[in-house]
Amino acid sequence: MRAHNFGAGPCALPLDVLEEVAAELTDFNGTGMSLLELSHRSKDYEAVHMGTIETLRRVAAVPDGFDILFIQGGATMQFAMVPINLLAPSERAGVIVSGSWGKKALSDGSKHGHLVAAWDGVATGYTTMPAADELGIDADWRYLHVTTNETIGGIRMVDFPETDVPLVADMSSDYLARPIEWDRYDLVYGGVQKNLAPAGMAVVFVRKSVAASPANDAANYLRYDFHANSSSLGNTPPMFPIYVMGKVLERLEERGGVAALEERSAAKAGAVYEVIDDSDGFYRSPVDPAVRSQMNVVFRLPTEELEANFVATAAENNLIGLKGHRSVGGCRASLYAALEMDSVEALVSFMEEFRAGH
Ligand SMILES: Cc1ncc(COP(=O)(O)O)c(C=O)c1O
Repeated sequence: MRAHNFGAGPCALPLDVLEEVAAELTDFNGTGMSLLELSHRSKDYEAVHMGTIETLRRVAAVPDGFDILFIQGGATMQFAMVPINLLAPSERAGVIVSGSWGKKALSDGSKHGHLVAAWDGVATGYTTMPAADELGIDADWRYLHVTTNETIGGIRMVDFPETDVPLVADMSSDYLARPIEWDRYDLVYGGVQKNLAPAGMAVVFVRKSVAASPANDAANYLRYDFHANSSSLGNTPPMFPIYVMGKVLERLEERGGVAALEERSAAKAGAVYEVIDDSDGFYRSPVDPAVRSQMNVVFRLPTEELEANFVATAAENNLIGLKGHRSVGGCRASLYAALEMDSVEALVSFMEEFRAGH
């Protein structure tokens, strides 16, 4: 029996993709080898690699002026690579600290360049996003870093800052679940292990002119131009996530692409928020309703004991991964791309039954 997987990442992948991968696992494309064993320089792998890039370019409507890079080290590596490549020693950049991940982008990135908090949501416990008039943006900043969805706090950026400063976005937890306004960005990145693929890399979209002129020298792997320039691959890429992602993206495209995923995500999250809002305070969403995440629905129950009971009983009912992040407690239902409506319906019924029983 497949679990209803509400994990925050890694998380559910489409069943038909997993089955196709399983069928191809010991003999990929008649090579007599698994894709896991192929040379990354082989024709068979090259077709997979280029195919995934092409599909991604189509699905995310990525303009020609952007390179698409697959880089190991997850989103965490990008906290450092962004300032290394974009921020010269004489320059400054801003970071919106909207939660745990914005905070990490600031603290980790500050080891490699002069970053300034454009806003910090600490006063409200990272339960909301900044209003336009709360932001302190300096027109001289090289870029402004935003986190489009705070995975732990369960909030999303709905209104993006009005500024001419180029944006850099961490979209790890709502990747391709919303359109990207390309002309506002110099760079968009995210780990793939939520909406797109198994763990093992980040997808980085970087403006070609930006990749071509790094602000600092660094080891090859840390430079976007190393990844972008290689007419052949710069080094051995994370082949397995790239291969699986290609299949996930094909399914996504068949089902209507980003616009349809955005709609499905809103419907799934809406169903869970409705149970919360209709529960007479038994379930409580701690975040500003205007910026509720569509990917990570965070909620509390009246006591921590009840929360522990809820998570354990849910698991007995095959609803897995509902515990909130260890730093904030409570409960969290992550509703990534491959989690289908039937799983959400199972959760909704369980939440109603659990409330009735307590
Ligand atoms: C918004 C966000 N940024 C960054 C990260 C870190 O990603 P990784 O584990 O790929 O380094 C995560 C992980 O959950 C995340 O949700």
